[in-house]
Amino acid sequence: MAQERVYNFSAGPSVLPLPVLEKAASEMTNFEGSGMSVMEMSHRSRVYQDIFDETKSLLKELLNVPDTHEVIFMQGGATFQFAAVPINLIGLTGIADYAVTGNFSGLAAKEAKKYGTVHIAASTEGCNHTRIPSQEELELSPDASYFHYCANNTIFGTEWNYVPDTGSVPLVSDCSSNILSCPIDVSKYGLIYAGVQKNMAPAGMAAVIIRRDLAGHQLPFTPTIMDYKTTIDKDSMYNTPPTYNIYMLGLVLKWVKQLGGLAAMDELRNVRSSMLYDFLDGSQLFHGCAQPEARSKMNVTFRTASDELDAQFVKEASSHGLVNLKGHRLVGGMRASIYNAMPVEGVEKLVSFMKEFELAH
Ligand SMILES: Cc1ncc(COP(=O)(O)O)c(C=O)c1O
Repeated sequence: MAQERVYNFSAGPSVLPLPVLEKAASEMTNFEGSGMSVMEMSHRSRVYQDIFDETKSLLKELLNVPDTHEVIFMQGGATFQFAAVPINLIGLTGIADYAVTGNFSGLAAKEAKKYGTVHIAASTEGCNHTRIPSQEELELSPDASYFHYCANNTIFGTEWNYVPDTGSVPLVSDCSSNILSCPIDVSKYGLIYAGVQKNMAPAGMAAVIIRRDLAGHQLPFTPTIMDYKTTIDKDSMYNTPPTYNIYMLGLVLKWVKQLGGLAAMDELRNVRSSMLYDFLDGSQLFHGCAQPEARSKMNVTFRTASDELDAQFVKEASSHGLVNLKGHRLVGGMRASIYNAMPVEGVEKLVSFMKEFELAH
């Protein structure tokens, strides 16, 4: 007999909704009477075009994307966007502002330096990224091509609880680990990107939402495959797109819509994260790593007083079907990633196991 599914707290690739996996399995060898798997279809076929169009339009609908913005899909995950963003946008003025609030925003800033002048508008390195800078702390350049920040810091377990005000400077946000988890006012952003392997689909691509007027400013040596303007003009099919990822994203989006859209996802993320943080706040053994006002509702980082006990917790939790709780090496301790597809019972089980572990230690 197959082993039962576990509660998978992995930061990414992450748990996908079971009904989505079951639907994909049922269509694996013969998609809607086409006689073939979605994996085997030409991306130029009518049947695939319908899958593509439906996925794109559902994403627009759920995120309430205004007509000023385009939705595109690109390969290479979020890291590809660390390069694609500056190569396409920094040419506007030659300068870009970056807030460094974790590992990934640091990597994004480092990559951008290859293409222009990068100004670090804020950094939380001094406290090992346990907090988020306030609006007042942001040192903004009035002539920046854009301001880049990472909305949710997957490794450190912090999340911006406000949208930075940058005046007329376009906002660019890496939303890899919190996209689709709550409503977002897309009209405030010049560009939003997300590696899909947390809240959207299997790993291997990024969803990008870009204000149309920002495309077309790419540096002259920009590889065509990285060029936002070409990608928009070719409707994400300049070359063969990651067809199966897009299909899986479509199934996930239908699932999100069926549950009530982003307002419902928001309620669920509040329920899941409060359960964990309320427990951590009352615990004698465990404590949260992030400062309370910066806490992420997607990635909860916590630890005990000793590395040995942390390791024992991770091991014992795993034997209870609560897996992938080891924290990232930059933070240590534990991390529970509780994306949209994590059932509330998964968090209930985790909290009750933490209670047991605390009593025993
Ligand atoms: C917030 C954030 N940005 C960027 C990345 C890098 O994504 P990818 O591995 O898709 O390049 C990650 C990966 O976990 C992430 O969490």
